[in-house]
Amino acid sequence: MGLVSGIKQTKELSLLCKEYFAEQFVDNSSSAIIAIDLNEKVIIFNQAAEDIMGIPADDVLGQPFTELLGKKTGTQDSILLNTLRTGKPYTHIEANIDTPIGVINVMAYTTLVIDSESNVIGSILSIRDITSQKQLEEKVIKAEKFSVIGELAAGIAHEVRNPLTSVKGFLQLLDKKFCSDNQIHRYIDIMLNEIQRINHIISEFLLLARPAVPIKRPINIHEVLNEILLLSEGELLLRNIEFEQKYESECPVITADAEQIKQVFLNLVTNAIAAMPERGRLTVSSVYDKTEGVIRLFFTDTGEGIDPTRLESIFDPFFTTKEDGTGLGLTVSYRIIENHGGKIEVVSKQGEGSTFIVSLPVAVTVMTGSSLRQTAGR
Ligand SMILES: Nc1ncnc2c1ncn2[C@@H]1O[C@H](COP(=O)(O)OP(=O)(O)OP(=O)(O)O)[C@@H](O)[C@H]1O
Ligand SMILES: [Mg+2]
Repeated sequence: MGLVSGIKQTKELSLLCKEYFAEQFVDNSSSAIIAIDLNEKVIIFNQAAEDIMGIPADDVLGQPFTELLGKKTGTQDSILLNTLRTGKPYTHIEANIDTPIGVINVMAYTTLVIDSESNVIGSILSIRDITSQKQLEEKVIKAEKFSVIGELAAGIAHEVRNPLTSVKGFLQLLDKKFCSDNQIHRYIDIMLNEIQRINHIISEFLLLARPAVPIKRPINIHEVLNEILLLSEGELLLRNIEFEQKYESECPVITADAEQIKQVFLNLVTNAIAAMPERGRLTVSSVYDKTEGVIRLFFTDTGEGIDPTRLESIFDPFFTTKEDGTGLGLTVSYRIIENHGGKIEVVSKQGEGSTFIVSLPVAVTVMTGSSLRQTAGR
C-alpha cells in the first residue's frame, strides 16, 4: 500500500512539475502563444502575444476568439479556429501582421490539445516573428543578383567600351573632314550622342560590377543636396513643379563620398520629376534621428506613384517602366547607399505619389553653419 501511494504521489508531483514547466515555457516564450478552449474562448494569451498583437491579455482572456479576430485579421488568426473545428494542425504558415511597431512577418503553427481520454479540449496557435530572418534572406537574394550582374557587367564593359572608343574617334575625325556639310554633321552629331548614351549605360554597369571605392570625407549633406537641386531647378520650372525644402536645423556631419551621394540624389530627383510630367510638388526634407544616429532624407513627389506589385522590383537591375530608361538608376543608388552603411526605402501610393527615404549614418561631429566642430564621440 505504502509503495502504491508513493508512486501516486510521485505521479502527482511530476504532473504538478509539468504544469510549472508548461506555464513558465508559455510565459517566457518569445513566440506569441494563444490557446482557445472548446467554446472558442481565449484561455492563454502570453506576454509575446500581448507585444505582437498590441492588446493586453486582460482584454481578451475569457473572450470569444472571433472578437480578437475582428481586431486583427490575417491567416494566422483563422487557422486556430480551423484547427479546433476540423482537427487539422497547420505548420509553417507565413503571414504579415499589423503590430504597434509596424507590419511584421510571422511564421504560425497550430496544434490540437487532447486530454488523457483523447478528447479534444482546445487548440493552440504559436506565432514567431521572422521579420529579421526575412530581411536577411532578401538581402542575400539581392546580393546574389548583384554579384551575377557584376560579373556580366565587367565582361560587357570590357568588350564594348574599346571598339566604342575607336568608333567615337573616327566619327570625330569624319566630323572635322565634313564640317562644311550640314547634313553629315547632323548625322554624326546624332551618332556621337548615341555613343555617349551607350557609354553612360556602361559606366552605370561598371559601378555595379566594381563599385568605385568611396572616397569618404566629412561632408555637409545639405550642401550636397543643394547642389543637386540647383542643377534640377530649370527642369522643375519647366514642368510646373513646385519645390519645397525642409531641412533639419542641426546638420550632422556625414562621412561620405560626395560625388557618389550626388549621383544618388540626382537619380532620385530625376525619377521624381519623371513621375510628374504635368505638374506637381517635390519636397525634399531631412530629419536627424539622434537615437539611431542617422540622418534621413525624404524625397517626396506627388507623381503617379508606384504600382504595389512593382514596388518589390524597382531596385532590381534593368527594371524600368520608361521607354528610354535603363532601369539602373535605383540599382546603382541602392548599392552606393549600402556601401555607405545606409539604406534606401520607399513608400508609395498609386495616383498620389512616392517618398524615397535615404538613411545615412552620421559621424561623431556636428556641423554648425559651414564649419565643422568635433564633439565627444559616442
Ligand atoms: N519617384 C518615382 N515615382 C514613380 N515611379 C518611380 C519613381 N522612382 C522610380 N520609379 C519606378 O522605378 C523604376 C526604376 O527606376 P530607376 O531609376 O532604377 O530606372 P529608370 O528611371 O527607369 O531608368 P534610369 O536607369 O535611366 O534611371 C522606374 O522606371 C519607375 O517605374
Ligand atoms: Mg531613374
